[in-house]
Amino acid sequence: MVRYDKSGVKVSHLENRRFNVKRFAVLVSGTGTLLEALKAADLEISLVLADRQCRGLEIATKAGIPTALLARTFKPDFDRETYTSLVAMVLDGFEIDFVSMAGFMTILHPVIFLPHNNRCYEGRIINNHPSLLPLFKGEHAVRDALSSGAKVTGCTIHIATKELDEGPILAQEEVSVLPFDTEAILHERIKRVERRLLPTTIRKFAETLE
Ligand code: GRF
Repeated sequence: MVRYDKSGVKVSHLENRRFNVKRFAVLVSGTGTLLEALKAADLEISLVLADRQCRGLEIATKAGIPTALLARTFKPDFDRETYTSLVAMVLDGFEIDFVSMAGFMTILHPVIFLPHNNRCYEGRIINNHPSLLPLFKGEHAVRDALSSGAKVTGCTIHIATKELDEGPILAQEEVSVLPFDTEAILHERIKRVERRLLPTTIRKFAETLE
């Protein structure tokens, strides 16, 4: 949360550090509407990191949030471990305490959970997934729910672990699948719920951090 002093001036980074306010990074790849929801909820964001040029980065730049673009390749020889180590180095450089993968489409290598200098991100990376996990894991969750004929799908916010789309669930909410839904329409209905659920879940999670 953004903090202000008695005269209404925004509290500086160093002051926040003194009061042990946690530094939060958001990882994006796409349109960044979840990032917009986090920003609108007045959550203080210390870094937005993207794996490609995307609208999410533009939103961050306009809002004056520090950004990092670690552009990745999509070739078969993509070195996931090295890429993930770079992500960890950037997070570490910005003294990030916890992370929201809000539409970040690169699967991070488990090396992200190893202690890195003074920091360890195990249990401190939160993922959003547009299905009711454990159903429909993976990149095409909305498409897969639709083609399965399910009448209900939803979204899940969970702590990321080294297994894809697994880990303790922090919040989950159902969304109906309606007749004549397309993947885009259904995904937008799910994202409307995610945009409400993510800021409150992140705020509660931040309060549990030491
Ligand atoms: C969300 O549905 C999230 O669950 C999925 O990607 C979408 C992000 O949307 N992993 P946006 O880029 O924030 O608009």
